[in-house]
Amino acid sequence: MLKRKWIGEKNMYNIALIPGDGIGPEVIREGKKAIEAASKYYDVKINWKEFPFGAEHYLKTGELLPDSALKEIENMDAIYLGAVGDPRVKPGILEKEILLKIRFYFDQFINLRPVRLYQGVSSPLKEKTSKDIDFYVIRENTEDFYIGIGGRFESQNYQQKHILERGIFQTDIQINFDLDRKEEIGYQLGLITRTGTQRVIKYAFDFAKKKNLKNVSTVDKANVLSDMYGLWREIFRETAMQYPQIMTDYFYVDALTMLFVSHPEKFKVIVSPNMFGDIITDLGATIQGGIGMAAGANINPDSVSMFEPVHGSAPDLKNKSVANPLGTILAGAMMLDHLGERETASSIERAVAQILQEGKVKTRDLGGKSSTQLIGDEVVMKIFIQPNRCKL
Ligand code: NAD
Ligand code: IPM
Ligand code: MN
Repeated sequence: MLKRKWIGEKNMYNIALIPGDGIGPEVIREGKKAIEAASKYYDVKINWKEFPFGAEHYLKTGELLPDSALKEIENMDAIYLGAVGDPRVKPGILEKEILLKIRFYFDQFINLRPVRLYQGVSSPLKEKTSKDIDFYVIRENTEDFYIGIGGRFESQNYQQKHILERGIFQTDIQINFDLDRKEEIGYQLGLITRTGTQRVIKYAFDFAKKKNLKNVSTVDKANVLSDMYGLWREIFRETAMQYPQIMTDYFYVDALTMLFVSHPEKFKVIVSPNMFGDIITDLGATIQGGIGMAAGANINPDSVSMFEPVHGSAPDLKNKSVANPLGTILAGAMMLDHLGERETASSIERAVAQILQEGKVKTRDLGGKSSTQLIGDEVVMKIFIQPNRCKL
């Protein structure tokens, strides 16, 4: 459902830019710079519309993410987001009401997170090279313990009606506690649907097939959370039967974290329920050289998708110009790829790969001293001097 427009010879896209909090604006600035530079040479025109949503805007106005903005973004081609989260705001408010609200509103059911160790980057796994660490995590992005249904009370009796609205279904959930004594309880409900699970697992197999990758692994905790992840496993097994050319592996999440460290070369595509996907992709980011390196895409093939780094707002690094912008820059390349601008996207990826291989400029997390901005400048420079670009 891309609303690509042709203006003369150029492909034009309308992108919603949400820099957000902490290091978000710093890394997004560099990502935007790289996208602009690459677009210049590949006849792409981006119209940016920046939105102020995040802690500052919330503290000033009380507004988080109004429906009017979502409606406006509905008519745009993609969202490019930095990060949200700020120590001045209670945990969960910005994360749920901005980031998750966007993922759910646009039903971005796929969270695609490549785990790739670039040449020139050192992994904490000393014996592993870029050949060993190169796989994709496809995280379900709308269900599981992320449905946002929960509550807290201190009492003997408690009733609560929850309403859950998702792109593919809607339900009321009635909670009723009838305790034998007064107790303080916090609860959170997780659920997965057959439709929601089928679509992400099918996406993972189709993705593997398209990329000619011969293995899809699934991760769950079906040995304990057997209703929810039992269903997940069953659907994985059923779906796998339709792809006889692709091999499969089943892992419990605890064992999987072990293998991320000891045998990351085992993995090609991992499809994961939402919460485990969140956790294993921070671990994945770490083995690929650090959380600053990791990029992600929240995709709905039929709606507006969102591209962002895997990391958060890193308040400890805010305004110090030390944050690594490469994850965000690579997320920008994923966005261009998604829009159908493969050449433009690969010019950014090549520039990043070249910089990392040369190792002359690095941010602090990669063992260097370069500023966030300098890395962005270098990426732009490399894009400009690439020999195989289309035009000068
Ligand atoms: P974080 O990812 O922000 O930071 C974790 C660690 O990684 C910190 O030490 C930080 O300094 C470092 N780090 C992060 N990004 C980096 C970069 N680009 N370059 C170098 N180092 C980097 O996670 P956190 O500290 O758990 O969360 C901080 C805030 O961000 C919280 O409010 C959290 O809810 C939010 N958060 C938002 C998103 C998002 O918007 N997508 C994702 C994760 C966390
Ligand atoms: C991520 C983040 C988010 C998540 C939070 C901030 C809601 O950790 O994008 O990985 O858990 O999905
Ligand atoms: Mn996370």
